[in-house]
Amino acid sequence: MNFTQWLGIDLPIIQAPMAGAAASAMAIAVSNAGGLGSIGCATLPIDAMRKELEAIRAATSRPFNVNFFCHTPPVVDPERERAWRSALAPFHRHYGIDPDTIAAGPGRAPFSAEAADVLDEIRPAVVSFHFGLPPAHLLARAKATGAKTLASATTVEEALWLEAHGVDVIIAQGVEAGGHRGIFLTNDLTTQVGTFALLPQVVKAVKVPVIAAGGIADAAGVAAVMVLGAAAAQVGTAYLLCPEATTTAIHRAALKSEAARHTALTNLFTGRPARGIVNRVMRELGPMSELAPEFPLATSAIVPLRAKAEALGSGDFTPLWSGQNATGCKEIPAAQLTRELAAAL
Ligand SMILES: Cc1cc2nc3c(=O)[nH]c(=O)nc-3n(C[C@H](O)[C@H](O)[C@H](O)COP(=O)(O)O)c2cc1C
Repeated sequence: MNFTQWLGIDLPIIQAPMAGAAASAMAIAVSNAGGLGSIGCATLPIDAMRKELEAIRAATSRPFNVNFFCHTPPVVDPERERAWRSALAPFHRHYGIDPDTIAAGPGRAPFSAEAADVLDEIRPAVVSFHFGLPPAHLLARAKATGAKTLASATTVEEALWLEAHGVDVIIAQGVEAGGHRGIFLTNDLTTQVGTFALLPQVVKAVKVPVIAAGGIADAAGVAAVMVLGAAAAQVGTAYLLCPEATTTAIHRAALKSEAARHTALTNLFTGRPARGIVNRVMRELGPMSELAPEFPLATSAIVPLRAKAEALGSGDFTPLWSGQNATGCKEIPAAQLTRELAAAL
């Protein structure tokens, strides 16, 4: 049995989970087209997550992937919080934001017992994790639903760790990838390499199937990673202009502009490194800042700036997640994009 048969899909194309930028409509379209549609649950409260998964379940009988972050919830460090707010103070002043009115607290929740309860109800075919794995008892609950488990690795060491901890499939995420890096065993960004460097090394190191992610934007890219030993390609950025994406107008405009040729890893928006189109806050503070509080606490002080700037039509404080290769972004239905991505196989 080959990988696609084992997963129950027709095409080795996985639409990357993209919390905030794609919801049930995207997953339904891709799964019904024969790929593996995904939904990122990191920003969804439990009730909203249940509704989204029910919507997918009602609209397709095909496999789909439910994705979670699995960071350890941070303890608020008041010193760091103060330093971060003072770094942002000139921007807060500019927009007339009173820093005392900024709500503290995390904006993204990790996989939890409540989320596992929803998986018990919905029983998706695939569950995937970013930032390592949840604690063993929660991973066991996801597995007990019968779901196949996937997790992102950004180094050979992470791939070996995930395999040793019982993951069924590894996603090798090259540094070109848009959105958050799945990096979890180190904070050293010099370990982060491109898809063509990472993928063959991971394929060689582990026995489980490997999915390639990062910079794959067209049919030739999909075919190339298959030659390098990938069992499937996971594509994120290329789907961001599809009508089914929930990408905002400001984000869409940035992806279509010259600006999309300039991306960087930044921790300013959440506290963890993620790749996005360079904007004002990244230019003025530097894309990586030691002042940014631990993930996801950096978010709260940026959110009001983002809201004020967006109301004026500006993406200066918006996380404009994008991979290094936005040339595959097309304003076509996700089903058509999925078929086009598989066209050279
Ligand atoms: C807008 C956006 C949001 C993302 N959100 C998630 C997420 O919620 N969970 C996750 O595992 N990966 C997320 N990723 C990373 C993707 O899984 C994948 O690694 C990446 O999109 C592949 O590279 P590409 O963007 O060059 O295609 C996101 C990527 C983007 C572009």
